[in-house]
Amino acid sequence: MHLPFLSRVLILSLLHISTIATEHVPAQRPLQSSNTTPSTQVHRVAIIGAGPGGSSASYHLDKFSRLSSLEPPLDITIFDTNPYIGGRTTTVNALDNPRYPVELGASIFVEINYILYNATRDFDLTPSFKIYEATPTAKYELGIWDGTKFVFTAVREDSDSSSWRGWWDIAKLLWKYGLSPIRTQRATRAAISSFLKFYDDYFPFASLQDAVMATGLDAYTGATGKEVLKNAGVSEQFAREIIQASTRVNYASNLGGIHGLETLVCMAIEGAMAVHGGNWQIFDTMVKHSAQRAFLNTSVTHVERTSKGTYALQTTNDDMAEDDFEFDTVILAAPYQFANISFTPKILDPPVRIPYVSLYVTLFTSPHRLAPAYFGLSDDKQDDVPSSVITTLPEDLNERLGSQHGVEAVGPSGFWSISTLRVLHPESDGLSAGPIGAVNGSSQDDEESTQYLYKIFSPAPLTGSFLSELLGFEYTPPSGEDDSLGSLPKKDLSWLYEKVWHSYPYELPTTTFSNFTLQMDEGEGVGLYYLSGMESFISTMETSALAGMNVAKLIVEGLHSHENR
Ligand SMILES: Cc1cc2nc3c(=O)[nH]c(=O)nc-3n(C[C@H](O)[C@H](O)[C@H](O)COP(=O)(O)OP(=O)(O)OC[C@H]3O[C@@H](n4cnc5c(N)ncnc54)[C@H](O)[C@@H]3O)c2cc1C
Ligand SMILES: *[C@@H]1O[C@H](CO)[C@@H](O)[C@H](O)[C@H]1NC(C)=O
Ligand SMILES: *[C@@H]1O[C@H](CO)[C@@H](O)[C@H](O)[C@H]1NC(C)=O
Ligand SMILES: *[C@@H]1O[C@H](CO)[C@@H](O)[C@H](O)[C@H]1NC(C)=O
Ligand SMILES: *[C@@H]1O[C@H](CO)[C@@H](O)[C@H](O)[C@H]1NC(C)=O
Ligand SMILES: *[C@@H]1O[C@H](CO)[C@@H](O)[C@H](O)[C@H]1NC(C)=O
Repeated sequence: MHLPFLSRVLILSLLHISTIATEHVPAQRPLQSSNTTPSTQVHRVAIIGAGPGGSSASYHLDKFSRLSSLEPPLDITIFDTNPYIGGRTTTVNALDNPRYPVELGASIFVEINYILYNATRDFDLTPSFKIYEATPTAKYELGIWDGTKFVFTAVREDSDSSSWRGWWDIAKLLWKYGLSPIRTQRATRAAISSFLKFYDDYFPFASLQDAVMATGLDAYTGATGKEVLKNAGVSEQFAREIIQASTRVNYASNLGGIHGLETLVCMAIEGAMAVHGGNWQIFDTMVKHSAQRAFLNTSVTHVERTSKGTYALQTTNDDMAEDDFEFDTVILAAPYQFANISFTPKILDPPVRIPYVSLYVTLFTSPHRLAPAYFGLSDDKQDDVPSSVITTLPEDLNERLGSQHGVEAVGPSGFWSISTLRVLHPESDGLSAGPIGAVNGSSQDDEESTQYLYKIFSPAPLTGSFLSELLGFEYTPPSGEDDSLGSLPKKDLSWLYEKVWHSYPYELPTTTFSNFTLQMDEGEGVGLYYLSGMESFISTMETSALAGMNVAKLIVEGLHSHENR
């Protein structure tokens, strides 16, 4: 029996919860365009998209080509619509204070995410293992809420006296769920060890489809999480109360609406970590170490094959020089359906449109804690409200809503998760940290100086009425006007940031995966690559980075065999 696993089960669902730096980190800056005009003797690569996939492609193209002394050398140009590198991995500053960067998108990766883990080490970035903060007096750091009651709570583990209580929790868990946690762990290990072959035995893989079949992972991607867990002998109750809470917080999906592999990914949380100050730093550093130029704020709108067999790009950037447009190889490192690029000639068999989750992320600070009344507790039970609440469906609705999507799938809780990320003291945080601390912080009342930083994931926008009930403050929406969060008083909601993401696909069961190449005509696809087919398999920063590394290897090997001919 592997008890540490069980204790991790208790926090597994906090995978999404981000880290917040307490120190100043430099703001994201665009890479400077280099002025060196590329000679005609280089092989020019364009990468469209500077998220984890594109950044990793750039980094590994440079690395593999130098390792193999590729001639001619590569010249890499990367484009992104956003004014920053990182894609769905980016931070915003709580209270608009650069001392409090908070992840708006992807927040957590794990030890076996070798690309991210190695990059964090090799770039000297500071890993952070403390991925959330419990309210100081709260008894529980995590609760699983089914919209009517807490089906599970985990005590805080950060004080000496409470550590044995953590063990008591685990004992109760075993009592309640029997062998299900261990069977889940076994299934997770088996799937992960097959997946890790993608890094060595099968690397590089020209076809994701073939690699999935060869590793047998199609058995997991082809069935729902619900089916895969059932086959593994995991009880319905453990699946619903624990694992489904994890698939909901990580992928906004119940077990009937997500495939078995992505379900098990949610349970593989050994060594969960984040980069202090923001995960985007991994991708920013990758690009800076490898690309000759990065055009940010720049959308690629059109890709045309020239008579020479090269690719001419059109972009929204007027500042690009004439010779910045032509490339030998192009990598599309963004979902085809959102990239809004036209191709000439047209792409044959373009990647099919897949449904993506619309995830509403609401970040805010407030002096209020989560209200006991909202969770059916009496007002004197403030400390019984868990600091973070993830959700599942109640037993009687599980069957009916379990394979729905979005608002239909969320059930009586109405939200996927609420996390207390950090307790802020804007007047005193960082006072010992030098000049930044010496500047007087917020001008607000010192009495209310403690602010809690929250993150909520939901399938629809939150309302002012909802938040006033959740946090237990009086509020009547202005009559006849909207009930949006923006109309809440500053004293109750001191800072607010709302964002809707196409966060990841609904990972519906499938055994068909897009190729890494896009073809403009019959026969061999030359020079046009595509990364995002990976997302139907697993959607994480690491798997996108793996797709980028894989395509980088395929390109360098291809050029090498050409060179040696
Ligand atoms: C709220 C949230 C939480 C998440 N949590 C986690 C987590 O905890 N752990 C984890 O591993 N993953 C998490 N993810 C998923 C993770 O963010 C994605 O899997 C990952 O970012 C995908 O990387 P990518 O490079 O493939 O795509 P993206 O990150 O989307 O990058 C693609 C880039 O291409 C650019 N682009 C698109 N079209 C064009 C064009 N025509 N021209 C120029 N540029 C273009 C886009 O602007 C974008 O920057 C989360 C995502 C969200 C939104
Ligand atoms: C991107 O564009 C915005 C608005 O057009 C501008 O304010 C910003 O400075 C630009 N950023 C970069 C990195 O070019
Ligand atoms: C990560 O680093 C380890 C140890 O240095 C190395 O063996 C491994 O190949 C690296 N993996 C990747 C994907 O870079
Ligand atoms: C897609 O591109 C076309 C032409 O480049 C543009 O007119 C349109 O506004 C774009 N659509 C989106 C959703 O970005
Ligand atoms: C900071 O606040 C103190 C009083 O609280 C005041 O005396 C001081 O002038 C302030 N400093 C700045 C830089 O605003
Ligand atoms: C993927 O590419 C291979 C050849 O490289 C081709 O035979 C196959 O049909 C392609 N699959 C899809 C789904 O386009």
